[in-house]
Amino acid sequence: MKNAIVTIVFVLSIALAGYSYYMSRTQQKEMKELRAMLTEASSGDEESESDPHDGEAHEHHELVESMGHMQRYMNKLWFAGEAEHWELADFYTHELEETMEELIEGEIKEDEHNISVLVETMALPSLERLEEVLKTKDGRAFEGEYLGLVNACNSCHQVTEHAFIHLQKPTTPAFTNQVYKLP
Ligand code: HEC
Repeated sequence: MKNAIVTIVFVLSIALAGYSYYMSRTQQKEMKELRAMLTEASSGDEESESDPHDGEAHEHHELVESMGHMQRYMNKLWFAGEAEHWELADFYTHELEETMEELIEGEIKEDEHNISVLVETMALPSLERLEEVLKTKDGRAFEGEYLGLVNACNSCHQVTEHAFIHLQKPTTPAFTNQVYKLP
């Protein structure tokens, strides 16, 4: 009887040891898998930040989109100002300002150029002057400041090795389905 109890206790303790060994192995395996998943996830994050090609492609896309928007607003702004429709001109000036502010806050770098700093120092001051001149409702002064801003756009294209993108005062509205003249 005593022997039987000893045997049972012995067998049970072996089973328990085996069970806890098995559990710890499974846990270890689970931990390993979790760790691998975490590493993968974090290295995936790092990749999108540190991989220069990916980062550049992303910013490149955003930059060219913003530039396209600015070109459109610049076109419309000219015809609004020419028609002395100051409310409409003010609207496009604000859109330009918002686009520039996005570029400034985006901390965008392209190649060696700090796009955000350049927009803030080269283009924003001209835009602010244009904003001020709209308040005077003076068509001639508007033209002067508008040309100043076109110049600022082109100067930055030069600085960023994109001098081949040259803006000018438009001759025809990009969209003919919008009315610029005051009703
Ligand atoms: C930071 C300096 C900088 C300023 C300021 C700037 N640009 Fe650009 N612009 C660039 C760069 C750099 C590119 C090329 C982007 C690229 O390679 O994707 C570009 C590209 C463009 C393009 C070509 C994209 C297209 O859709 O054809 C246009 C148009 C353009 N800019 C218009 C403007 C206008 C309008 C302004 C002024 C309101 C302006 N840019 C101000 C740097 C600037």
